[in-house]
Amino acid sequence: MNLKRRNIVITGGTAGIGLELVRQMQQENDLLVIASNEERLEHLTRAFPRIMTCRADLAQLSEVEAAAAAARRYFDRIDVLINNAAIQYTPTFVEESFDYASIEREVTVNFTTVCALTSLLLPALIHDGEAAIVNVNSGLGLMPKKNSAVYCATKAAVNVFSQSLRHQLEDTNVRVLQAFMPLVDTAMTTGRGNDRLSPAQAANAMLRGIALGIEDNDIGEIRLLRSLVRFAPGIARKIMKAA
Ligand SMILES: NC(=O)c1ccc[n+]([C@@H]2O[C@H](COP(=O)([O-])OP(=O)(O)OC[C@H]3O[C@@H](n4cnc5c(N)ncnc54)[C@H](OP(=O)(O)O)[C@@H]3O)[C@@H](O)[C@H]2O)c1
Repeated sequence: MNLKRRNIVITGGTAGIGLELVRQMQQENDLLVIASNEERLEHLTRAFPRIMTCRADLAQLSEVEAAAAAARRYFDRIDVLINNAAIQYTPTFVEESFDYASIEREVTVNFTTVCALTSLLLPALIHDGEAAIVNVNSGLGLMPKKNSAVYCATKAAVNVFSQSLRHQLEDTNVRVLQAFMPLVDTAMTTGRGNDRLSPAQAANAMLRGIALGIEDNDIGEIRLLRSLVRFAPGIARKIMKAA
């Protein structure tokens, strides 16, 4: 899909990979960015005045519904929905700092909201042109690490959801794509690993995948990981445990 003159809805376009996606798409497309932090959203509109924004805490389904309604008001048709926003809590279940309340929040932002926005925006995505739902996934959705168990599970759920949705939409104009990210240098990965992609590199690879219509776009080291998961799962499990 040619990413020019498209109506695009993106969650979490105010930081990290999402911000870079916005930066690289904003000149040639109409964008609605949904995120929760008011200050960051204001900063975004100052930097890119053409962009429309909507403040919503995607951990609250009532706010997800309001954001979807705003998207339907802004755009009579939507060409691309990018489900990018996610959160990751790292404490293990045996650590004292583990917060029980984080479970619902993480599952809602990372998974339930992806399904909810898909459902609420699908009527605007189904039209006589090309359209795509793009879910940002992770190597941790293919093979989990030790900590962030709930995060890993939500990404695995997004993967399975995306594959099933692909079947459901095969007779429509809507393609379901995923971008599997390796370690990228954002707030989510502060202090982890030395060999991280820059958000600009990650966004660039993701946009190339959308342009080429790659269903499961394995970025950077994810290509190797996917082969290991298939042919040497024991090695993949060992490597990813400490990722
Ligand atoms: N960084 C990596 O190494 C890596 C690796 C694999 C996959 N990924 C995936 O890539 C995507 C982007 O990650 P990132 O590293 O760029 O994250 P990030 O830098 O932490 O940015 C997250 C974005 O999501 C938004 N967000 C978070 N919670 C939200 C909420 N409750 N409601 C609305 N918006 C919310 C944030 O905006 P506000 O704070 O304004 O709400 C921000 O714009 C995620 O799906 C992540 O799982 C990242």
